[in-house]
Amino acid sequence: MAKIQAIRGMNDILPEQTPVWQFVEATVRNLLRQYGYQEIRMPIVEQTDLFKRSIGEVTDIVEKEMYTFDDRNGDSLTLRPEGTAGCVRAAEEHGLLFNQTRRLWYTGPMFRHERPQKGRYRQFHQIGVECFGMTGPDIDAELLVLTARLWKALGLADHTRLEINTIGTSEARRAFRGALVDYLGQYRNELDADSQRRLETNPLRILDSKDAGTRRILAQAPSLDDYLDEESRVHFERVKALLDAAGVSYSVNPALVRGLDYYGKTVFEWITDSLGAQGTVCAGGRYDGLVEQLGGRPTPAVGFAMGLERLILLLETLELVPGHVNSNADVYVVAMGDDAVAQALSLAENLRSALPTRAVVSHCGGGSFKSQMKKADRSGARYAVILGDNELHNGTVALKPLRDNEDQRELPQGDIAAWLANALTD
Ligand code: HAM
Repeated sequence: MAKIQAIRGMNDILPEQTPVWQFVEATVRNLLRQYGYQEIRMPIVEQTDLFKRSIGEVTDIVEKEMYTFDDRNGDSLTLRPEGTAGCVRAAEEHGLLFNQTRRLWYTGPMFRHERPQKGRYRQFHQIGVECFGMTGPDIDAELLVLTARLWKALGLADHTRLEINTIGTSEARRAFRGALVDYLGQYRNELDADSQRRLETNPLRILDSKDAGTRRILAQAPSLDDYLDEESRVHFERVKALLDAAGVSYSVNPALVRGLDYYGKTVFEWITDSLGAQGTVCAGGRYDGLVEQLGGRPTPAVGFAMGLERLILLLETLELVPGHVNSNADVYVVAMGDDAVAQALSLAENLRSALPTRAVVSHCGGGSFKSQMKKADRSGARYAVILGDNELHNGTVALKPLRDNEDQRELPQGDIAAWLANALTD
């Protein structure tokens, strides 16, 4: 019978891969704690209307990419394509936004029915942050300073660049949209097919077009900058000044408009040139209108989400995964003979009590000394602790460094925990 396989674009994350995931997740988690963020966990499924009303009816995500189905009651539900809408829904529903500021974060799988390719999947994982109740621009800048610090912590600072833009208030965008449609309408037949369609539905997205012909036409198009409202302009100038003061480099990309409708004022993307077409590793912006649009009181908000698959792919492509990440043992206990096995069990327990942050893996299942040592080496452990007849007899253990060229040494059993505590420093 044919075997059932995973769904296209939805990946298993295998035991060899989880250490790097855990490394990235732990690094982000720790960093967010440093900035005072609180974690929120939302359901993966929401009412379809939530995404239609927030992301926008005529966006690619809502038009073409959502996993939407009727449940057994006939309600239309959707697997979340992103986290912002659900976070706003949850925060509002539980009164987290009334008269207070919030820095929230979440992580988990998101679902979009896109064409799978390297860095683009149908189930992918984001870590997102959303800040509520702060009009900025200081919080906009803080978010970018935070992400810059994260790239440093992950060793990615030299491989990511920041693009920012302001897309103004919805009134400013409406005026610009009108002018853009008038201009592009004259060249309708020369635009690529996608842009022709977007002319009717979401003309600002045409600015994102990669088609060479369309790009030529866009060169003379009216610019959003000419229609910007004063408040957005001042806000953006201030964000830039704060980034300059904090030493975060950026470039202003006037074509950066983002594919979700809820944004206004600041938008940004962190991009890498090392992953090909799917190079945006983190993206977000301000969305001051969304809480009200979903039925809450007017509440300023800004946030971003990063794609974990892309970050991990980047770390792997650049061979930047720190060595210690991939080892699942610090110490590997090898025992030869029944008596030694019994002794090793309690020795390993003692080591776990004495070294609570270290992984002490006992060899189980017997086998020759050679095969046990091979497993010890493969485990990534720094040291093998060896118990055989001789050691049992002498009340010692043999300690073999597996990563350095140091000699094997013999130590009294009672000294081994303290010796390892001293030797295992990083
Ligand atoms: P987004 O730009 O749609 O924004 O997605 C954010 C990030 O998720 C992308 O930059 C990318 O790294 C990752 N991503 C998106 N789609 C895929 C995919 N199919 N496969 C792999 N990775 C993907 C949002 O989702 C907004 N909610 C961000 C935000 C939060 N804005 C304000 N707050």
